[in-house]
Amino acid sequence: MPGWRWSWTPPGTGTWSWSPSTTWADGREGQVSATIEPEIGWVQEGLDHLATLVDPSLPGWSRTGFSVQDVEGRHWVAQQMRAAGLSTHVDAVGNVIGTFEGTAPAAPAIVVGSHSDTVPGGGRFDGIVGVLGAIEVARALRRTGTRLTHELRIVDFANEEGNPQGVKLVGSRAIAGTLGHDHLQATDEGGVSLADLISRAGHSPEKVHTCRWDRAGLAAYLELHIEQGPVLERNGAGIGVVTRVCGISTFHLDVHGRRDHAGTTPMDTRSDAMCCGAAAVLAVQRIAAAGSDTVGTVGALTTTSPLTNVISNFARVTGEFRSPHMAGLRALAEELEADIPRLDAAHRTTSSLSWGHTDPPAVMDRHLSDVVVGAAATVGHEAVRLYSGATHDSVQMSQLAPAGMIFVPSAGGRSHCPEEWTELTDIERGVRVLIQAVLDVDTGFAGS
Ligand code: GLV
Ligand code: MN
Ligand code: MN
Repeated sequence: MPGWRWSWTPPGTGTWSWSPSTTWADGREGQVSATIEPEIGWVQEGLDHLATLVDPSLPGWSRTGFSVQDVEGRHWVAQQMRAAGLSTHVDAVGNVIGTFEGTAPAAPAIVVGSHSDTVPGGGRFDGIVGVLGAIEVARALRRTGTRLTHELRIVDFANEEGNPQGVKLVGSRAIAGTLGHDHLQATDEGGVSLADLISRAGHSPEKVHTCRWDRAGLAAYLELHIEQGPVLERNGAGIGVVTRVCGISTFHLDVHGRRDHAGTTPMDTRSDAMCCGAAAVLAVQRIAAAGSDTVGTVGALTTTSPLTNVISNFARVTGEFRSPHMAGLRALAEELEADIPRLDAAHRTTSSLSWGHTDPPAVMDRHLSDVVVGAAATVGHEAVRLYSGATHDSVQMSQLAPAGMIFVPSAGGRSHCPEEWTELTDIERGVRVLIQAVLDVDTGFAGS
């Protein structure tokens, strides 16, 4: 595992640079127009600081949504937004929102954001790079005295990563108006609802309707994020522009068997719910592996009788499928449904499959993506277009505004683990492209 090896260096001064030919840190020569340089030392300091706000009872760099550390982290994020000259407010589900007025008060906002919560046992970069990168856009504009025509609106979305209640993208759903009663009433195993979880963090989920944004007020949504997969690194590419983001279907399979003595019941007469559940785990793997660009994962196989001398009469398999296409998600679901009777026949069990929420795949805006590719070229980098198998707040934001995402490489393609790593030079490149993309959207993007 790479160590936490960055050290704080005092920030340099932000400068406008104008030069017909610039040599970049990676040694390449590029023709550039006017660019605004990020103060990457500040981003590094932010990564260092947030890495101290982690739950000591969990492995990795855990700051799960609505935890004490998450509340503290997002309080710090709000302070940083204010120090960057943004007006801030925290909405009813905990989204931290900072705004920087544009010169044309009627112009719709350019929104830039990501999330600072993590999965349990997660890393230091997923989401965090995008939040710090977004604040650095505001800081860079301020340093250089640059005023946008549009309002710049920066968001640290609440609880992107989901919770034991099984709801991902909580904050961006609230903003898009898709965080429904069913989401808020979903409970964890101890009966705590998502609404309870949000309230305990000091927010007001009963006022979720106040979080909703009007699409008429929005020009575009941009998000910088680590790739979390191996594509950029394998291709030697420094910048990715996302074409579409996966759709996700979640399910649970409840398997009913018969409780019997584990020592005296012959193997060929058992009705073992645990064995049928285990076979279902492998069925999910086989079905997803046979599809194109599809993945399937079981997160839990649980039983109510965890004893080795009793045959399980109940097991629950909790999982998800992902695909770039809705048709792919449907095909995966049909295949699993068709498999269940075969599994039940083989194990003398009775199972019922329930589907949770399906988030359809989201298509990133073609024209906005072209703007981002152009912004990358302006600052001297060729962008690679790629699909995201990880989900993002951009899925929800794409329902409100043209959405685009900038990816930077993840070392070894690793993510959602403590070893997650992105080099500072890669982050700097991403922030530079983000700044340029915001400037280009401000001056030249009319929407799709
Ligand atoms: C979040 O990172 C997800 O892809 O589930
Ligand atoms: Mn993320
Ligand atoms: Mn994540």
